Amino acid sequence: MLSAGDVPSLTDVLLERRIIVCVGSGGVGKTTTAATLALAAARRGKRTLVLTIDPAKRLANSLGLQALGHQVQEVDRALVRTGAPSQTGELHAMMLDQKAAFDEVVAKHAKDPQAVKRILTNPVYAQISGSLAGAQEYAAMAKLHDFDQTGSWDTIVVDTPPTAHALDFLDAPRKLSEAIDSPAIEWFRKLQGGSGSGWSFVGKTGAFVLKRLAKFVGSQFIDDLGVFFTEFNDILGGFRKRAEETFALLRQPRVGFVLVASPEPMAVREALFFHERLVTAAMPFVGFVVNKVHPALPTNADEPAVVAALSANPGIAALGLSGTTKTMAAQALFSAHGELETLAEADRAAIEQLRAAGGAKSLLIEVPLLRDDVHDVQRLVGLERYLLA
Ligand SMILES: Nc1ncnc2c1ncn2[C@@H]1O[C@H](COP(=O)(O)OP(=O)(O)OP(=O)(O)O)[C@@H](O)[C@H]1O
Ligand SMILES: [Mg+2]
Repeated sequence: MLSAGDVPSLTDVLLERRIIVCVGSGGVGKTTTAATLALAAARRGKRTLVLTIDPAKRLANSLGLQALGHQVQEVDRALVRTGAPSQTGELHAMMLDQKAAFDEVVAKHAKDPQAVKRILTNPVYAQISGSLAGAQEYAAMAKLHDFDQTGSWDTIVVDTPPTAHALDFLDAPRKLSEAIDSPAIEWFRKLQGGSGSGWSFVGKTGAFVLKRLAKFVGSQFIDDLGVFFTEFNDILGGFRKRAEETFALLRQPRVGFVLVASPEPMAVREALFFHERLVTAAMPFVGFVVNKVHPALPTNADEPAVVAALSANPGIAALGLSGTTKTMAAQALFSAHGELETLAEADRAAIEQLRAAGGAKSLLIEVPLLRDDVHDVQRLVGLERYLLA
């Protein structure tokens, strides 16, 4: 039992919170971290779901997600439970198809099955659902909201999309609302008069503009646009309501945000910015996972001694090099070691910046840069020892 003031470990967080959201900038290791945490929860007896987004192909394969897309699939139980602390947990995984998730939101809020069909087959919808600002992130959050409501998961771990900027993710509901409320869309909606009866209410100016527009894009497109806005108008309320509910859900104490970063300067800047944003928005921040850290090496500044020791190393001796070549090889190793030290030092400075921002009450976990990609269940189990240390 934790007493007030104690910093919980990531294991405590994992066992206590129902939803863990892994956020961070592109390529830092969000998907890997989400998969590792989900597996760790399952191995501790939780019925777990991991919602992944575009995992690397080999990782998807090892989670059994190769051909599925947008369906929940159980990861091989034997694989999950081998050597695990509990033999009752389960890991289910889903690779989110963001377009399909957006379609589901439409289906849920449209007034009847015919309206769903009309919207989903409308060419304007096909265009807009993929490119509306924040639509994809919104869809991911909507899916989380659905899964949370089913109540059938002990733990849900959520991976987030590789947005160019980490903030896009939190801004998604607002962005989507703004895009839908944009002056251009509003104009079209007004032309329609909300009557759902095509373009009969457009008035003189509207008719003129539409005629000119039709010249460029074709009258069929204008008709599609008209139908789309009438139909879509009906479901906007539902979209907004869902966005608000999801935002409220993300603020609850049973949620935990894990901010994944790498020690790269850009990633650190983004992580600091994102942390600030989470705190301001009163979202429950758990801590930083700093991934791909260069391990600190033992230092020895005495070059001749190190070079002599390296020259005597059996590996170098086995190369059968002559005296000077052997020394040159040892010197090359020494300077490579020096470069690694410099990288490790830069990483330390970056980590301290994050630690200072997070403060005494949050976690900071370091995961070393590993020699290989993390693409199967065994390697995910291997990562556990760093993440849950
Ligand atoms: N600690 C590590 N050491 C070495 N490689 C790693 C480590 N963590 C993750 N990787 C590898 O780095 C790559 C990117 O990781 P991952 O896909 O988890 O990042 P991401 O943040 O989800 O990326 P994106 O923003 O594109 O979705 C993968 O190939 C993964 O196997
Ligand atoms: Mg990813």
